[in-house]
Amino acid sequence: MSGKPLVILSRPLPESVLAPLRDIAEIELWRQQTQIDRGTLLAAVGRAQGLICMLTERVDRELLAHSPKLLAVSSMSVGVDHIDRNALTERGIPLGNTPGVLVETTADLVFALLLAAARRVCEADRFVRGGNWLPQNRWAPDMLLGRDIHGATLGIIGLGDIGQAVARRAAGFNMSVLAWTRSGRQLPGLESVSLERLLAESDFISINVALEPETQMLLDAAAIAKMKPGAVLVNAARGGIVDEQALCRALQSGHLSAAGIDVFEHEPVAPDNPLLSLPNVVLTPHIGSATEATRRQMATMAVANMVAALQGTAMPHCVNPEVYR
Ligand code: GLV
Repeated sequence: MSGKPLVILSRPLPESVLAPLRDIAEIELWRQQTQIDRGTLLAAVGRAQGLICMLTERVDRELLAHSPKLLAVSSMSVGVDHIDRNALTERGIPLGNTPGVLVETTADLVFALLLAAARRVCEADRFVRGGNWLPQNRWAPDMLLGRDIHGATLGIIGLGDIGQAVARRAAGFNMSVLAWTRSGRQLPGLESVSLERLLAESDFISINVALEPETQMLLDAAAIAKMKPGAVLVNAARGGIVDEQALCRALQSGHLSAAGIDVFEHEPVAPDNPLLSLPNVVLTPHIGSATEATRRQMATMAVANMVAALQGTAMPHCVNPEVYR
């Protein structure tokens, strides 16, 4: 035993990123490329002062009950809906996250989904690979018709950093942007409107709010019914914000023309989820921040948060700074 605190890492991270932590702590890595199982995690945290986790690990009262020595939790994610923040705060445990660095990368994916859904890129790819592009239908005036992005109206739900980055991209496509925030926040150059108006007037809607009790099922069946006929919905935020069943019905009935979905109510998405059988949906497996550079920056921030906590200083990015008061 070195006398150094023990930090559990629920996924392997690059050694170069871990170096500052290795100087001050023992590190126990979950070395497999699959998710750490709950039993192993609960056993491991029982010995640990620190936990660096991903959004795949539920950090709840049960886990805390197994963690008598835990001093700090650092999540390699910006969203912390997998963590019971109040339970950590009650124990005086700081919770770190990784805001900022993934903003532009996630906004890129929003636009990738928006473009792919609007222009039926995945359907077209399946069409070509499936051997359906034949001499007799080499080109047809009505083949794989999509929707124009340029000049259309984009509704952005949530004007945090990612919502604003999506708005900047929309300007490049000459789109009109309507925005809605819970706080009624106004930003120069963006028209802030009521949710009702955004739903009714937007040709495209991008969801960019965090999943919190107030945003759970924000787009329920009633809200989806208010969307403009033929609109396209993009969700790269969190699954629980949209009623998936209602979304499926709207896509099946033609009320919505397409959707681009990166996040689901239950992840991984179940093979019998009806979204998977709809041709007009582009699906990705929660990869909003998935570029090499961004994931490296996120890992570096998650490590920096843990190093600060173990050194007895405030985490640079702390979700519950009230623990320091
Ligand atoms: C990704 O969804 C994150 O919260 O970092």
